Amino acid sequence: MRTQVGIIGAGPAGLLLSHLLHLRGISSVVLEKRSRDYVERRVRAGVLEQGTVDTLVEAGVGGRLLREGLPHHGIELRYGGAGHRIPFEKLVPGRAITVYGQQEVVKDLIAARLEAGGDVRFEVEDVAIHSPEDRPYLTSGGERLDCDVIAGCDGFHGVSRPSVPPGVLRTYERDYPFAWLGILARVAPSSEELIYARNERGFALHSMRTPEISRFYLQVPPDADVAEWPDERIWAELKARLETVPGFALTTGEIIEKGVTPMRGFVTEPMQYGRLYLAGDAAHIVPPTGAKGLNLAVADVRVLTEALAAFFHDGSTGLLDGYSEACLKRVWRAQHFSWWMTTLLHTFDSDDDYGRRLQLSHLDYVTSSEAAATTLAENYVGLPFP
Ligand code: FAD
Ligand code: PHB
Repeated sequence: MRTQVGIIGAGPAGLLLSHLLHLRGISSVVLEKRSRDYVERRVRAGVLEQGTVDTLVEAGVGGRLLREGLPHHGIELRYGGAGHRIPFEKLVPGRAITVYGQQEVVKDLIAARLEAGGDVRFEVEDVAIHSPEDRPYLTSGGERLDCDVIAGCDGFHGVSRPSVPPGVLRTYERDYPFAWLGILARVAPSSEELIYARNERGFALHSMRTPEISRFYLQVPPDADVAEWPDERIWAELKARLETVPGFALTTGEIIEKGVTPMRGFVTEPMQYGRLYLAGDAAHIVPPTGAKGLNLAVADVRVLTEALAAFFHDGSTGLLDGYSEACLKRVWRAQHFSWWMTTLLHTFDSDDDYGRRLQLSHLDYVTSSEAAATTLAENYVGLPFP
């Protein structure tokens, strides 16, 4: 069988790419190793930048997002016994974020692909990439798929990046000495906006999904095991880290999902080799404190779609050749912002009193200087897409 673009991975990157290519009249096949049910239930990101929302709406897959997503015009930084709001409406007028679960984006994209007769194959086995330099093809379960171009959208642990011969890609990596324990709870949020709490016991984040479902994260040791975190311990720790301002009480409820995520920054340069193009987590990872991973995946896919449209419609390779360079500027900005938010808000075992005072001084600056708060706000809502 033959297609123009063979896409590995039905996460947000692969599905959105397939959909945007379809809108440009370019054929693709998506190969996903997990089941449809699994990818539609995988709980991950929740914060969509303005540009991500605009992209989904313009592509005709934003109907439910506009109805059910929760627009937010600020976040709270909580530390030292007080809450400090970063008001987006004042600092970055006209731009905001929308809270809408990643798995809802994935559901909407799968529905759109299937409705348009798209070829999305789940539970495919042993996908392998062959001759990415020229006349590439994919194999899986004894079948062969010839492609003009391959898009590696298979996340950090996929097969695409390791298919590039050694020595071609340069990687940059930073591991953080902690992880996030994330939970989803059947309880109304205790706050209207997200709360990023810096606490001596460790960082905590109060987020949400719907008016009935809340999402929380706790900084935990890097080797933490969910088995060590029974529900009572999680709620006690969330209360200890979040109930630090007068009048705030955390409402608890049934925990319906728990997971531990390691924290790392990672970038591969370039994000392409021959006819293979990497997009999203396959090419870069950020610690989630800046809420940038999904948004970067969408930004890559926008750039790749334009480049592929120029290639298939006019035969021009200029945009494809410049794909990595066009993406990496935003990728590194998001790496820096994510590292900055992470170091601003987490506790590090290596920190001495001097380090702690520096962190608090910087938090005071961000919450008292309009210039510093604007820097946070414009990065958080996302730099405009070109
Ligand atoms: P993925 O979503 O990882 O999709 C890759 C797909 O490829 C998967 O479906 C996988 O099953 C499939 N695959 C893998 N290997 C193969 C193979 N060999 N063959 C076939 N298929 C394969 N980002 C934000 O922007 N905002 C947030 O608030 C945020 N919060 C987060 C919270 C947590 C706890 C975590 C873990 C992440 C968070 N992120 C956030 C990051 C975001 O979830 C990722 O950046 C995003 O999922 C990247 O999408 P992707 O399509 O590139 O990769
Ligand atoms: C989430 O709601 O899952 C979420 C929100 C903000 C972040 C990370 C994750 O920084």
